[in-house]
Amino acid sequence: MILYNHFDVNEKGHLTIGGVDAVDLAKEFGTPSYIIDEEVIRNNCRTYLNAARKHFGKDALPLYASKALCFTGIYKLVAEEGLGVDCVSGGELYTARRAGFPAEKIYFHGNNKTDKDIRDAIDMGVGTFVVDNTDELYALAAEAEKRSITQRILLRITPGIDPHTHKAISTGNVDSKFGSAIVTGQAMDIVKKAIAEPSLDLAGLHCHIGSQIFDIEPFAEAAEIMTEFIAKIKSECGYEIRELNLGGGLGVRYTEYDREIDYAEAIGEISAVVRGLCEKNGITMPRIILEPGRSLVAAAGATLYTVGSVKEITGFKNYISVDGGMPDNPRYALYSSQYTALIANRASEPRDYRATLAGRCCESGDLLGENMEIQRAKRGDILAVLVTGAYNYAMASNYNKLPRPPIIMIKGGVPRIAVKRESYADLLANDVDLGD
Ligand code: LLP
Repeated sequence: MILYNHFDVNEKGHLTIGGVDAVDLAKEFGTPSYIIDEEVIRNNCRTYLNAARKHFGKDALPLYASKALCFTGIYKLVAEEGLGVDCVSGGELYTARRAGFPAEKIYFHGNNKTDKDIRDAIDMGVGTFVVDNTDELYALAAEAEKRSITQRILLRITPGIDPHTHKAISTGNVDSKFGSAIVTGQAMDIVKKAIAEPSLDLAGLHCHIGSQIFDIEPFAEAAEIMTEFIAKIKSECGYEIRELNLGGGLGVRYTEYDREIDYAEAIGEISAVVRGLCEKNGITMPRIILEPGRSLVAAAGATLYTVGSVKEITGFKNYISVDGGMPDNPRYALYSSQYTALIANRASEPRDYRATLAGRCCESGDLLGENMEIQRAKRGDILAVLVTGAYNYAMASNYNKLPRPPIIMIKGGVPRIAVKRESYADLLANDVDLGD
């Protein structure tokens, strides 16, 4: 086992993913390729759903934050597992709809929904809008009124806490492009405006404090601030908030230096805190929604590459270059995110070499990691980066005109293509010949 049970080493000394030989996968599907073990995602969905129901009650609903990994197949899988989804753009809504995802279980997020996004989402019957700001509130109210419907909404509130994570993925502090802050009075203002809109049904509040969080403390802090605010709404407006969405953000183990999180236990702890706070603030326990992305899909994934050039620069670093890089995984370049890498065809050998993993782009920041522990590598080796299921394919680009890798889903030991590899022709599909 390497980090997780579904990453192992077989009798040939090859890495296996969900029981399938990674070297065989690389041969069959080429590299780079994203490999996803479907069972891992299903198990994570079940862990969240069961724990949420056990601790928060039957009507608790985890939503899959589909920005973490978005393609048709994943919406089908999540629908089968009984979760709702968080969509954040017209493109995600379109993908969910094409997958036949039940619209009433979609929560539509985003700090800048366009008028078209709002119209399209209402027309497809999106169950809940998570309204970010007053401009959006009025735009949505007008569209709902035109259609003579009452649109269910949550309001995105910024509780104003620092979740101790990377600045770029922290979203709950007051100076944020997301939501309305409580301390500035803007949150109460938008609540009153929402209550006054006859075409909107203010079901509840939402907050999301950040991502890759390992402690329960910031969630407890957020819950404290949110429940106090719910109590204030009750006393000031006589209005009962029925739903509280605490967002996503629970962390994931990327390397052996990261802690492991027991998600069921974490949900139990959060629930105990929320219950206590509701009692303390004299409010009825609202329906609790959780919105995990990373913790449902990250561990399920691995990316397979072929090693190209290997350079040892005397007195400096060792470089191992692979046939992918920042276009398929920009997370090291953006956030210095740490990963576990290994040579899949010699996975049983110790990772006693140190190297910088370089991509193939014309850009020196195109790295997958520095000073990584790995086996000594040579041209033609298959290199695996583990735990790439979240925010890799979802954030992939075609920089340097590199086609995006395919997604190969493994189920019951059988690999299937869920998203095809982009071809060079695909890269030109929207180019228009302007003639002379
Ligand atoms: N709900 C909302 C409103 C969010 O903005 C997010 C993530 C989630 C839920 C899911 O959070 P998770 O459980 O995945 O931590 N690209 C960055 C992560 C950005 C997260 C943005 N929001 C990365 O690669 O680390």
